[in-house]
Amino acid sequence: MRVLFFIVIFLYVALNACHVSVGKDNLVSSIPDFVKDGFYLDTQNTFTNAKAELGKYLFYDRRLSVNKTKACATCHAQEFSFTDGYQRSAGAFGDLHQRNSKPLINIIFNRYLTASDSSLHLPEKQINNPMFSTHPVEMGMKGNEELILKRIQADTLYQRLFAVAFKKEKNPFTIFNIQQSITSFIKSIFSFNSPYDNFNFRNKHDALTESQQNGMKLFFSDSLNCSKCHGGINFNTPEIKDIKRNRIDYFNTGLYNLDSLGGYPSYDEGLYEHTKNKNDKGKYLVPTLRNLAFTGPYFHDGSARTLDEVLRVYEEGGRNIDSGIYRGDGRRNVNKSPLINGFRISSQQHRDMVNFLLSLSDSTIIINPNYANPFIDDETKR
Ligand code: HEC
Ligand code: HEC
Repeated sequence: MRVLFFIVIFLYVALNACHVSVGKDNLVSSIPDFVKDGFYLDTQNTFTNAKAELGKYLFYDRRLSVNKTKACATCHAQEFSFTDGYQRSAGAFGDLHQRNSKPLINIIFNRYLTASDSSLHLPEKQINNPMFSTHPVEMGMKGNEELILKRIQADTLYQRLFAVAFKKEKNPFTIFNIQQSITSFIKSIFSFNSPYDNFNFRNKHDALTESQQNGMKLFFSDSLNCSKCHGGINFNTPEIKDIKRNRIDYFNTGLYNLDSLGGYPSYDEGLYEHTKNKNDKGKYLVPTLRNLAFTGPYFHDGSARTLDEVLRVYEEGGRNIDSGIYRGDGRRNVNKSPLINGFRISSQQHRDMVNFLLSLSDSTIIINPNYANPFIDDETKR
């Protein structure tokens, strides 16, 4: 009997220890029950609260950029659901980024990162872009690693936080540890408190207005096709498969057609930049539709100011630009997805759809203290 008792106690302790050492449970336990799978984690970067806490400070710290002008949070600000409100972001030296900033919410569910780099799967890899890229410079860390590490190491706050997060390491002040910490923090940003979530998963029947419910029916209808591309819990997982039954993740939605051969502006040609396959011109990853209330302007280049404008593009089956340097009829783009055909809906239905899209916005995200700037009292470090 006593032996059995000890075995039970031993198993209990061993199993719990396992949980702690795996670490991802710490992260995953903060996701609501209705989304327990479908995420991707870097098994090398075991999640700990200490790393995420340190990462939060680093995420908000402008000293990580060469001239102390940009933190990650400059282009990924909480008030905009971790985007920046610009059409295209500006780097440390003021150069325009190729793209509109992306919301850093629920990113562990993303199979691919960025709008068109099909080689990037994990934030632990993507983070090299903002830190080290030179076309354009975003944070300008390249060649300035020692300088920036010294700055961080000199701060007593970081001496304490690094020692706690990387207990066993003699010199924890490395670029690698900075990257592991920041990515731990951004992976912990979850946003599942929209009226849509409350209606659909928490059985709050009055969470959506009648107009939003009508918009929802349109969104999921076969005549509009929205959910075929914007599927899954984050509205960014397509149902579309190729002939080998592999999921297709990138689509051309007919926004440009510069040369009538499917051309997109030369500074950004989408998936083509990575594959060099001309059929991939203008193909982009399907973006999440969560938190659109905070993330405008829209599309990969911020070229649509409002959701009205976005929806009109779909109604027309693409975008016809009839003057200026980007002139061309996107509706006739050769690479356009056959699912973007255009459709007719009434002006009331148009409003219903926009209202539905807005119901996917979680207004707790922009005030959640867990994600807020920890330096907020210290103007110099923001
Ligand atoms: C100069 C502005 C700027 C700075 C600074 C910046 N980012 Fe970004 N970030 C962007 C833009 C623009 C994109 C979209 C890139 C694309 O689609 O090609 C992006 C995309 C991302 C993505 C991909 C998200 C997704 O769902 O695909 C992650 C992750 C990310 N940034 C993390 C960070 C981190 C961490 C830092 C700080 C180390 C940082 N960013 C600093 C502008 C910035
Ligand atoms: C063929 C796949 C596909 C279909 C169908 C589709 N979308 Fe999209 N959607 C995309 C892609 C890809 C983008 C990004 C395009 C870009 O940036 O160039 C996008 C972008 C958007 C955006 C802008 C999001 C942002 O943050 O910039 C909204 C809003 C949107 N779609 C809503 C809809 C609605 C509503 C429907 C149905 C009427 C729909 N989509 C149908 C693939 C699709």
